[in-house]
Amino acid sequence: MVHAAAMASIGHHVVAVDISVDKVASLSAGIAPIFEPGLDELLAEGLSAGRLRFVTDMKAVEPCDIHFLAVGTPQKTAEMSADLNYLHEAVRELLPHLREGTLVVGKSTVPVGTAKDLELHINGRGATLLWNPEFLREGWAVSDTLNPDRIVVGTSDPVKAKSHIKKLRSLYSSVPPQTPFLVTNFATAELVKGAANAFLATKISFINAMAEIADASGADVTELADALGHDNRIGRRFLGAGIGFGGGCLPKDIRAFAARAEELGKEDAVRFLHEVDAINLRRREKAVALIDAALQGEVSGRRITILGAAFKPGSDDIRDSPALHAALRLHELGAQVVVTDPKAVANARLAKPQLTYEQDLRRALNGADAILLATEWAEYREPELAQTAANLVHQKIVVDGRNCLNVEAWRDQGWRYIGMGRP
Ligand code: UGA
Repeated sequence: MVHAAAMASIGHHVVAVDISVDKVASLSAGIAPIFEPGLDELLAEGLSAGRLRFVTDMKAVEPCDIHFLAVGTPQKTAEMSADLNYLHEAVRELLPHLREGTLVVGKSTVPVGTAKDLELHINGRGATLLWNPEFLREGWAVSDTLNPDRIVVGTSDPVKAKSHIKKLRSLYSSVPPQTPFLVTNFATAELVKGAANAFLATKISFINAMAEIADASGADVTELADALGHDNRIGRRFLGAGIGFGGGCLPKDIRAFAARAEELGKEDAVRFLHEVDAINLRRREKAVALIDAALQGEVSGRRITILGAAFKPGSDDIRDSPALHAALRLHELGAQVVVTDPKAVANARLAKPQLTYEQDLRRALNGADAILLATEWAEYREPELAQTAANLVHQKIVVDGRNCLNVEAWRDQGWRYIGMGRP
């Protein structure tokens, strides 16, 4: 959806196909089914210029020269590996409509080896396959699409595909010429994506492991991260310790990556990713334990406000959200949990109807015995919230699951401030 709108915004004529009648109707009316900054404007512009169409009928792609495969590859229900059914189905439906000489470009996140298999079918129609992984971040999807930090293109034959690779590069006309453009084989292109997410997840779990050590020794993990981050080789980004990572990408991608490596007989090489996953999941339990300890082991019947439901700020995505995970655990322990979020309440309510939701922040804080900050939205980070909340709650206890609050501002208002990995 973002790719379609972005390609239309730089002057291309785009036909976007989806099997969901509802989503196609909504998008055709200019309404994005998700919250993503800048997307509504792009949709409006593309639709009114007549360069962007949303359809359910695959036949509409017949005049197109380039076909992007951008369907999801979620985690299988009872397994760690990726579910490729949507991708295979999309390709199966596309094949009869492919013209000779056209280009198919894979963007979906796939286990290494997928492109090689798909290529046989695509070549059979006289078309060419390239693999061009997607690195966008939710909340920054539009700018990351129009101005990515690198473009990776995988091919099985760089000589034969030369004109197609050139065509793909010129299609991305919004991308500055100095942006790194890397042509690799299929396996490398597929691995770059999985390896990038595995590295980011490892970096977060590394600092969360340090948070565990900090807890045991009296150190402060945020100061530790600052000091580590000044080493240019390490860098401060993705050293934010707290309740851990979630979302539709990092958790499922490290599991799929490890599952595929095991299929390749390389379980030794990815054993650490199971540890990365385990450290991450422990953080959610730790946040719950901190609330429990602050309430002297008596969470049952207490009113606990969860600030945030989205897996990160700038998004209404609640997939594998640490915030909702902790909220559910506290609910199971008998607490009266109230969840609030600037954008994600509707999605959270649909997914976890057993929890209580309050869109209004003040109403959510009213009468709370403890607060758990789980998603670092800008409005929760405002130092003034310390005072506003102090006048509303029943007990001034705050667990900062993202280590993002102004500690002094909260302590000045008489709060018992509890960070994660901080004394
Ligand atoms: C991630 C990658 O960052 C993108 O490059 C990739 O393209 C995308 O997955 C994907 O595979 O499609 P995204 O899921 O949007 O992007 O979110 P991130 O910004 O990576 O954050 C992931 C999680 O890590 C969030 O829950 C965030 O709160 C958490 N996080 C991030 C931390 O706990 N600490 C940090 O220091 C940074």
